[in-house]
Amino acid sequence: MTRLFDAGIASLGLAFPSLGIDVRELARVRDIDPNKFTLGLGCGTIALCDQDENAVTLGAKAARRALERWDGTLEDIGMIVVGTETAADMSRPLSAFIAEELGLEGAVRSYEVKHACYGGTLALRQALEWKASGAAGDKAALVIASDVALYGECDGGEPTSGAGAVAFIVDKPTVAAVEIDSYAWSKPAFDFWRPVGEDYPRVDGKFSLDCYNEAVEHCFAQRIGDASAASVLSQYDAICFHVPFPKMVKKGVTRLGEHFQLGEDVTGKLFAEKVDPTMAWNREVGNCYTAALWIAVARALADQGPGAHVAAFSYGSGFGAELLGLVAGDAAADAAWVADVEQDLAARRLLTGEEYLDYRAARRKEVREVPLRQTA
Ligand code: COA
Repeated sequence: MTRLFDAGIASLGLAFPSLGIDVRELARVRDIDPNKFTLGLGCGTIALCDQDENAVTLGAKAARRALERWDGTLEDIGMIVVGTETAADMSRPLSAFIAEELGLEGAVRSYEVKHACYGGTLALRQALEWKASGAAGDKAALVIASDVALYGECDGGEPTSGAGAVAFIVDKPTVAAVEIDSYAWSKPAFDFWRPVGEDYPRVDGKFSLDCYNEAVEHCFAQRIGDASAASVLSQYDAICFHVPFPKMVKKGVTRLGEHFQLGEDVTGKLFAEKVDPTMAWNREVGNCYTAALWIAVARALADQGPGAHVAAFSYGSGFGAELLGLVAGDAAADAAWVADVEQDLAARRLLTGEEYLDYRAARRKEVREVPLRQTA
C-alpha cells in the first residue's frame, strides 16, 4: 500500500532567465552539424543568464512566485533550504543570499544542500521528513532548486547548457503528495565534478552516461522488487527523469527496458507516452541541474491533473540517485505554475550565434575581474 507524507507540495514556482540560444545557432558558429545537437542529443534551446541574473535571482524569483500563490506568508516559513551546484561562496549558503532577497529572517533554519543535480531532491526530502518528524510544528518549508549550468566554450557539454529554478512550499499537499517510501542508490565516482576555484565543470561524458544508467537500473529494481516490471510501471501516468539532455533520458529508459526485458515495442511506447512529454519544457531551457527533474515533474503534474501518479528519478553526479513517487493534488487542475514558464519563455531574447560568441567573451572577462561573484 502506498504511504504518503501528511505534508506535501503546497505551491510551485518556476523561473528562467531572459536570454537564450537555439542549439542550431550554436552549432552554426561552432561549425558542427546541427543534427548532432538536435537529433543526437535531443536538445532545443539553451537558457542563458543576462548580466544581472544568476542562481540567486532565479531562485528568489521562483520563490516569490511560489509564495504569491500560497495562502501563507513569510512569517509561516520555518525553513529555507536550497539545493544547488552553483554555490556563490564556500561558506555562506545560497539560502542566505536568497533569504536576503526575500526579506526572510528570524526563527528560520537556513542552509544549502550539495550533491550535484540531486541536491534539490535531497532538500525536498529533508523538508518533508522535517515536517513528518513533528519538529516543524505548524511552520512550512521553502525549498528551492536553482542552477546556472554553463559549460566551457567548445566543451562537449556546451549544447546541454541551461539555467532555471523551481521553488516549492512544503505544507499541505495541494499540488502534490509525496510517497514516504523512496529508492536511493549511490556509488562514489568521478563522472562530473567541479574542483574548487574552477569556473566550469569537468565531465567524463561517456562515463556519466554509464553511471546514470546504472543508477536508473538499481533504483527501479528496488521499486519493482519481485513484481512484474510492466505492471509496476503501468501504475504511473508519467515517469520523470533528471534531464541533463533528452537523449540521455532515452538511453536510461532503453537500459530500463533491457534490464527488465520489456521488449523494444513496450520500451518505445513507455518512452513515447510516459517520459518524452514530461521533457517539453526541458527542451526549451536546457540542463538546469538541480531544477531539471522538477521542471519535468511540474510539467507532468500540469499535463496529468489531479490524482495522477508520477514517478521522479533524481540523479546527481558523484554519484547519488533516488526514485520518488508523487500523487497530483487538486491544485494540479489549474496548474498556475504553467504561467511562469509561458511568461519567461515569451519574454526572453534569443541570441544569434555571433551574439553568443560576444556573450561568452564578455563572461570570460567578468570571470577574470570578479573571481568571487558576490551578489551582496
Ligand atoms: N547527426 C545526428 N546525430 C549525430 C550526429 C549527426 N551529424 N553526430 C553525432 N550524432 C549523435 C551520436 O551518434 C551520438 O548519439 P548516440 O549516443 O545515440 O550514438 C550523439 O549524437 C552524441 O555524439 P557523440 O559523438 O557521442 O558526442 P560527444 O563526443 O560530443 O559527447 C556527450 C556527447 C554526451 C558525452 C557530451 O555532450 C557531454 O559530455 N555531455 C554532458 C554529459 C552530462 O551532462 N553528464 C551529466 C550527467 S548528470
